[in-house]
Amino acid sequence: MPAISLTRHLIEEQRLGHVTPDLRLLLEVVARACKRISVAVGKGALGDVLGEAGGEAGSINVQGEAQKKLDVISNEILLEANAWGGHLAACASEEMAHCEPIPDAFPRGNYLLVFDPLDGSSNIDINASVGTIFSVLRCPEGTAAVEDAHFLQAGRTQVAAGYCLYGPSTMLVLTIGHGTHAFTLDREQGSFVLTRAHLRIPETTREFAINMSNQRHWEAPTQAYVADLLAGTDGPRGKDFNMRWVAAMVADVHRILTRGGIFIYPWDRKDPSKPGKLRLMYEANPMAMLVEQAGGAATNGRTRILDIEPDSLHQRVPVFLGSRDEVETATGYHLRHDGDAA
Ligand code: AHG
Ligand code: MN
Ligand code: MN
Repeated sequence: MPAISLTRHLIEEQRLGHVTPDLRLLLEVVARACKRISVAVGKGALGDVLGEAGGEAGSINVQGEAQKKLDVISNEILLEANAWGGHLAACASEEMAHCEPIPDAFPRGNYLLVFDPLDGSSNIDINASVGTIFSVLRCPEGTAAVEDAHFLQAGRTQVAAGYCLYGPSTMLVLTIGHGTHAFTLDREQGSFVLTRAHLRIPETTREFAINMSNQRHWEAPTQAYVADLLAGTDGPRGKDFNMRWVAAMVADVHRILTRGGIFIYPWDRKDPSKPGKLRLMYEANPMAMLVEQAGGAATNGRTRILDIEPDSLHQRVPVFLGSRDEVETATGYHLRHDGDAA
């Protein structure tokens, strides 16, 4: 069997009517940008890519977070690659306060692209895995000038979602609503090759991922759920759980797509003004679509992530995603707590 490239996979999906020619070409452009980011990430200490952006003074993004050089480089690579293709109306990103319409010099398409150009930035300087996360939405019909408001669509309307993991190998994991498929970058050929079609997340698991250092700040039902995991065979769950935390959502979700597990970034009291750490539009939504398309589940502890109606581009949300049974169990703790409180 000859290797199936991303290009061939997408052309076959187009023949099946699963993807329009425009969306197919848009996804090819995103994949090409990810290859360039992979090259930049791979230079490490030999390129001018490590450390903080903005020189001595540093540079802060709209989230109030210090930008790394690779955050800025990756954002620019994605913007530049996507400007001229003619498939997009606008881009939005973690690293930009507002969306950027496609420059007037280029034709405008009917899709919106929103991305986290470099996820897991704290891993850059320690040479650990990082990634890119993206989500494609339809631009509402008849939109003359694209604004942030046009991006505020529930995650279930996404037409495509994916991530690229820059790990020991570079992998693109993609869904267009017909399963979740994984491609590995063949560095000699320069192309993504289909290495796992139709990923399926095991429904049950004995592995969880959460930043335990925040434990004392969690709300009661999150405390109770994790306490029962930690109690292992002696507790109500009757089995031992293992724990992993890469601090790059892309890498943690990739592990879960590969061997199951539950990933949790819950609401916590550290900064009560923030309803979670992760961002709905370019972290939670695309990951939730990928996970659901692989048979898993994704909630904010109460409701399905993909049903949340967004109210702002950089909105934050608690995230519980992965193996279906485990996400349902965790969600149950929160719903029962709410029921008891009422
Ligand atoms: P980003 O680098 O895009 O800001 O995202 C980092 C996110 C996510 O990838 C990861 O799961 C989480 O932050 C790690 O948070 P802690 O440092 O609190 O563990
Ligand atoms: Mn991120
Ligand atoms: Mn980021």
